[in-house]
Amino acid sequence: MMWTWGLWTFPLLCKLSLAALPAKPENISCVYYYRKNLTCTWSPGKETSYTQYRVKRTYSYGRKSENCTTNSSTSENRASCSFFPPRVTNVDNCTIEVEAQNADGVIKSDVTYWNLDAIAKTEPPGILSVKPVLGIKRMIQIKWKRPELAPVSSDLKYTLRFRTVNSTRWMEVNFTDDCSNTDQTYNLTGLQAFTEYVIALRCVAEESRFWSAWSQEEMGTTEEEAPYGLDLWRILRPAEADGRRPVWLLWKKARGAPVLEKTLGYSIWYFPENNTNLTEAMNTTNRQLELHLGGETYSVSVMAYNSLGKSQVATLRIPAIHEKQ
Ligand SMILES: *[C@@H]1O[C@H](CO)[C@@H](O)[C@H](O)[C@H]1NC(C)=O
Ligand SMILES: *[C@@H]1O[C@H](CO)[C@@H](O)[C@H](O)[C@H]1NC(C)=O
Ligand SMILES: *[C@@H]1O[C@H](CO)[C@@H](O)[C@H](O)[C@H]1NC(C)=O
Ligand SMILES: *[C@@H]1O[C@H](CO)[C@@H](O)[C@H](O)[C@H]1NC(C)=O
Ligand SMILES: *[C@@H]1O[C@H](CO)[C@@H](O)[C@H](O)[C@H]1NC(C)=O
Ligand SMILES: *[C@@H]1O[C@H](CO)[C@@H](O)[C@H](O)[C@H]1NC(C)=O
Ligand SMILES: *[C@@H]1O[C@H](CO)[C@@H](O)[C@H](O)[C@H]1NC(C)=O
Ligand SMILES: *[C@@H]1O[C@H](CO)[C@@H](O)[C@H](O)[C@H]1NC(C)=O
Ligand SMILES: *[C@@H]1O[C@H](CO)[C@@H](O)[C@H](O)[C@H]1NC(C)=O
Ligand SMILES: *[C@@H]1O[C@H](CO)[C@@H](O)[C@H](O)[C@H]1NC(C)=O
Ligand SMILES: *[C@@H]1O[C@H](CO)[C@@H](O)[C@H](O)[C@H]1NC(C)=O
Repeated sequence: MMWTWGLWTFPLLCKLSLAALPAKPENISCVYYYRKNLTCTWSPGKETSYTQYRVKRTYSYGRKSENCTTNSSTSENRASCSFFPPRVTNVDNCTIEVEAQNADGVIKSDVTYWNLDAIAKTEPPGILSVKPVLGIKRMIQIKWKRPELAPVSSDLKYTLRFRTVNSTRWMEVNFTDDCSNTDQTYNLTGLQAFTEYVIALRCVAEESRFWSAWSQEEMGTTEEEAPYGLDLWRILRPAEADGRRPVWLLWKKARGAPVLEKTLGYSIWYFPENNTNLTEAMNTTNRQLELHLGGETYSVSVMAYNSLGKSQVATLRIPAIHEKQ
């Protein structure tokens, strides 16, 4: 019986004596905020006693070293410490090791290796304008400024996201901008006409895996287009005492036509089929009109217009009063 007792207690005692040491810092992760600071974070254990962390960094490809210290904070599940220029430079490989220390001793993390180019995070690009180009349909042109805090000799990858003002669903396109390019513009095509879009951009240096934050959002509206066709229908009423027939005309944007434009108004004209000389014409901004026609067959036409042009003409034949409907 004695030997079993001995085997049981040995690991138990080891555990008890180790329990007082801090937990080994795990999952070290570093981000280089370009030319601002190198910030490393890690998961500390749930420490019950006062714990200090010393982050040991080698830089200049391992030739030099510096430390950064921070205290345990029970409220956060990630602890962090930052290093600053001029010892943090654009092109460098460094190592990071985190030591956790309390009254009972020190525990070291694994040594981690960081290539600063691969963890550089730039500032977001600044959007200068979002505008249509005169005469180019269903396109807006976005101009922006390359972030100042981005590696000068790196090509930047961009994601542009856009949505119509009334939609919550973002769509996105990716593109790359050569570092020698001085004219930062992108033509966003295949959009809806006369629609307001919300645009945002973010970027990342080609070598890096950390995207910038999204830029501020800017809005722009695509060019208007001439209206599409109309759907036209009518309601005939019985003839009045004087023999004239009231006819209600109603119309709306053709079914299936996209929202493309702002319609300024509608032109209506009508005439008896056997005498075009008697053509009457009028304009309205309403989408209905009451006419008083004679007993003969009439032709009635409606067309929408705006500053860019006219829609196709919608025409209806109004049968003569004696005709079977
Ligand atoms: C490691 O840290 C990163 C960055 O904070 C986090 O996204 C990830 O979920 C962590 N992984 C684990 C296993 O804790
Ligand atoms: C590091 O730089 C980033 C970006 O400018 C900033 O948000 C952060 O507060 C900085 N961290 C420290 C500890 O200075
Ligand atoms: C960093 O801390 C270690 C102890 O962990 C110490 O030996 C070393 O001298 C310190 N280095 C600097 C640059 O302070
Ligand atoms: C850590 O805590 C000690 C004691 O509260 C304090 O003197 C020291 O300045 C703290 N160090 C850091 C890096 O916050
Ligand atoms: C820096 O580290 C990367 C991989 O982490 C390696 O490919 C590269 O050769 C290193 N550069 C130098 C100058 O040591
Ligand atoms: C977008 O929303 C505004 C205000 O809610 C509304 O006036 C406008 O007609 C909507 N546009 C479209 C295309 O739905
Ligand atoms: C754009 O790039 C991001 C990140 O690489 C990727 O997740 C996304 O699917 C890409 N989007 C398109 C539309 O290609
Ligand atoms: C964008 O479109 C305009 C007008 O067609 C054209 O002049 C310009 O070169 C285009 N820019 C790009 C980057 O494609
Ligand atoms: C229409 O007017 C023209 C010229 O005023 C005239 O010659 C023609 O006979 C008229 N047609 C009808 C059907 O009244
Ligand atoms: C209707 O409007 C069109 C376009 O503005 C104009 O050319 C036409 O003369 C107007 N017709 C009437 C009857 O007012
Ligand atoms: C047109 O038809 C109506 C009714 O059928 C008739 O009264 C009228 O005289 C005709 N006008 C002409 C110019 O033929």
